[in-house]
Amino acid sequence: MKILGIETSCDETAAAVVEDGHRLLSNVVASSMNLHVKYGGVVPEIAARSHIEVIMPVINQALDQANCTWDDIDGIGVTYGAGLGGSLLIGVMTARTLAITLNKPLYAINHVEAHVYANFLTDTPLPGYQLPAAQPAFPMLAIIVSGGHSQLVLFKDHFDYEILGRTQDDAVGEAFDKVAKILGLPYPGGPSVSAEALEGNPKAYKLPTAKMSKYDFSFSGLKTAVLRLAQSEIGEGYDFPSMKLSERLSEIQKANVAASFQYTAVQTIVDKAKLACEEYYPKSVVIAGGVAANTELRRQLKESLPLPVSLTDLKLCTDNGAMVATLACFKASLGQDQADPYSLDIQPNLSM
Ligand code: KG4
Ligand code: ZN
Repeated sequence: MKILGIETSCDETAAAVVEDGHRLLSNVVASSMNLHVKYGGVVPEIAARSHIEVIMPVINQALDQANCTWDDIDGIGVTYGAGLGGSLLIGVMTARTLAITLNKPLYAINHVEAHVYANFLTDTPLPGYQLPAAQPAFPMLAIIVSGGHSQLVLFKDHFDYEILGRTQDDAVGEAFDKVAKILGLPYPGGPSVSAEALEGNPKAYKLPTAKMSKYDFSFSGLKTAVLRLAQSEIGEGYDFPSMKLSERLSEIQKANVAASFQYTAVQTIVDKAKLACEEYYPKSVVIAGGVAANTELRRQLKESLPLPVSLTDLKLCTDNGAMVATLACFKASLGQDQADPYSLDIQPNLSM
């Protein structure tokens, strides 16, 4: 069974073909990020316009790369939430139109769940992918860390999961993005803060961790602590504007702040994941979402968890169509409901 996955929830226009829920046949991602960088964040109208321009070329390229024609495709999966309304609409309307005109089953995919399913891809004829040798076993602990979500989820089986905890305010990726702004580093903040952190000492500053209930997170206090730290390092008060901080911080101060922030943010996640392993004895642990690409997170998880974490290729951590196609394969093979191509609507605030 071959499924085409379509993903347009944010700035990436992505499509991929996955076979039988484990074999990656193609993976095409066109990002409009270069158009958003100068605004310091994704501009929804620009993202939507860019999806319109590239979605059909991206889909056609995904079919070509997989050596497929439409006749070979058994179904279409599309992200219908969570995400930016205008962006989601382009993917969903395209998928609906294709499903109707080509008479293909349509599967409505939750973006956050899809991130988890990137970890089920185990083989590919495509060059340059490092995939795990086997699919994760249940019960599976999923550490979901992206720009919009931070949560710990225990999967007892496919489509049978319990949310152990989630962030009560900012997502961890959002905290990286905000700290990048304070330090004058480019958007998106995750990759730029982690690159900066390589030059710094993670123990240079002690930053606070929020006291939350067992598996819940909070990252907004940490972000504010970084702001206060930066203000005091340059000898200014709390009313000093955050936009002007980076001009006054020295290179080593910036690197130390980046490293200390990253260390603390990651430690919060790893501590809770460790606790969940001790309570629930999962047979596998996966990380999902853009922040799963973070090397400090991967390092600390390896050091602290009682079982190895199943890691997938960095290209499959950030938004892509392969994760959507993989989840759609499982929906199709396990008899989950199809979406109605005449009425499927977007759900920008969808949660798990
Ligand atoms: O999953 P994703 O591509 O989009 C959402 O669904 O949100 O995640 C994007 C987030 C951004 O906040 C970005 O800064 C963060 O993932 N990110 C990283 C890294 N690469 C991307 N955060 C930390 N370290 C990274 N290497
Ligand atoms: Zn995402």
